Amino acid sequence: MHRFIPLLLLALIASACVSTGDDATELPEVEATTTTSRAQRTTAADERADPTTTAAPDAEPGLAGLDVGDPGGDMSGLTAARLPGSIGDPTFPGIGNVGYDVTRYDVSLDFTGPEMQAQTVVTLTAQIDLEALNLDLVGMDVDEIRVDDEPALFNRDGRELIVRLPNPLTAGQSAEVLVAYHGTPEPIDTGEGLPFNLGFQARTWGNFVASEPIGAATWFPSNDHPQDKAIFAVTMTVPAGQSAIGPGQVVEESQGPDGSTTVRWEAREPMSTYLASIATGEFDVQTEVLDSGLVLRHAVHVDAIRATGDELQTTREMMEAFEEQFGPYPFATYGVLVVPEQLGFALENQTLSLFGTDIMSSPSAQPILAHELAHQWFGNNISPAAWDDIWLNEGFATWAEWWWTERIGGRDMTTVARTVPMDPIKDLTPDTLFDFNIYWRGGLTLEALRREIGDDVFGDILRQWTERYGGGVASTQNFLDLVTEIAGSDASNSVSQWIFSPTMPELPADR
Ligand code: ARG
Ligand code: ZN
Repeated sequence: MHRFIPLLLLALIASACVSTGDDATELPEVEATTTTSRAQRTTAADERADPTTTAAPDAEPGLAGLDVGDPGGDMSGLTAARLPGSIGDPTFPGIGNVGYDVTRYDVSLDFTGPEMQAQTVVTLTAQIDLEALNLDLVGMDVDEIRVDDEPALFNRDGRELIVRLPNPLTAGQSAEVLVAYHGTPEPIDTGEGLPFNLGFQARTWGNFVASEPIGAATWFPSNDHPQDKAIFAVTMTVPAGQSAIGPGQVVEESQGPDGSTTVRWEAREPMSTYLASIATGEFDVQTEVLDSGLVLRHAVHVDAIRATGDELQTTREMMEAFEEQFGPYPFATYGVLVVPEQLGFALENQTLSLFGTDIMSSPSAQPILAHELAHQWFGNNISPAAWDDIWLNEGFATWAEWWWTERIGGRDMTTVARTVPMDPIKDLTPDTLFDFNIYWRGGLTLEALRREIGDDVFGDILRQWTERYGGGVASTQNFLDLVTEIAGSDASNSVSQWIFSPTMPELPADR
């Protein structure tokens, strides 16, 4: 529980400083026929220090000594040497897969029966020769897998869904892997550490999703690591009287004879799996088209309308201010989804930030709305190359939240934050990934840089950051390199100190 309280508390402090108060057949076992290596990845993060280079490609992912908090229900499969199902993330060694790159997910979900009936088509390109490949899937019953329309044998082991390809793929070749499955998706039980279980959330009022960091696999088979971004289409069928909300925009809608509705949403910009989200239920959807052509659409559950009040009306103004500061908003749509839940956090799902009634009705609504909107640039358009790069999400969003708070007449939060001693941002574990030093020390790192190099050069860095890495992923090293290039090595050394040194440096005077 303690993990997320700081964010809420810190935001409350921030908001207190905001002036007024307005407020097929299963195989028994699949041999390890693939040799997959993290070195095959072709992402912007390839240059980063590779924590797995010391391990042989097929060696154990290295769970030893790391408390992963049982993120996959049954994580036992992760220690099996035969599995290529780990991208080698230092924080979550068993997450993601190697050997291929997903370009598209086509997820279809039917909510009209007692269980969810689902089908996901994963379009991928092999990066090496493959006879089998792994996907991540938690729970659900798999009915059938077809690869380019030919039936495939498969096996399951914990989070791993191991697909034996009917025809081997050679490097560079693409394939469509269709997975038909059903069941009642359940979130991953993260135990004591989190106030909330990860992934798909079924309620009596409907369904929603909160996956960050490793919960996407609870509702669709995927390469569940931020590194492998893809475009998404989500088609949902819901019973009469319900709406289906998804990422991006509606491209098709039809009514069934039983009164059900089928809606197809498409998000055409690359998205990391943890940011994909949907909701079903009785939602009030408000759409507005900005002068820039950007479509704003908010979806507020009917039981959350009162708590939401008119808080979402500032979105347009916030959007314009951020575009000026960070460059063009990176996606075709944006909006906020408000669910009738006391979540204890908000989440920057791509094009559809998730809020509960607790934050939305609190004085911290505005700062956190700014925080989640800023994530669309920082975290979503540029995603973390690995989970220990999380400060690139949270530090940037916190800095933007402070910037907005000050702009609307709130207090200078950097001064408040500077008085709090905070651990360095390193050696992260699943339990410390969202600790408040990630947010506040991350935010101060950027503020210190801005003060050191001045607004103009700082602005150049932010815009170059987006230009170079937008649509992909980036690492802390990528950021340090960019700072060196644009502002010099003294500046990047300071940034390093701010992130990694045991004691926090002095915050330079504002100029
Ligand atoms: N990224 C979110 C934020 O900064 C926090 C997410 C916490 N993750 C979760 N599964 N609850 O606002
Ligand atoms: Zn955040």
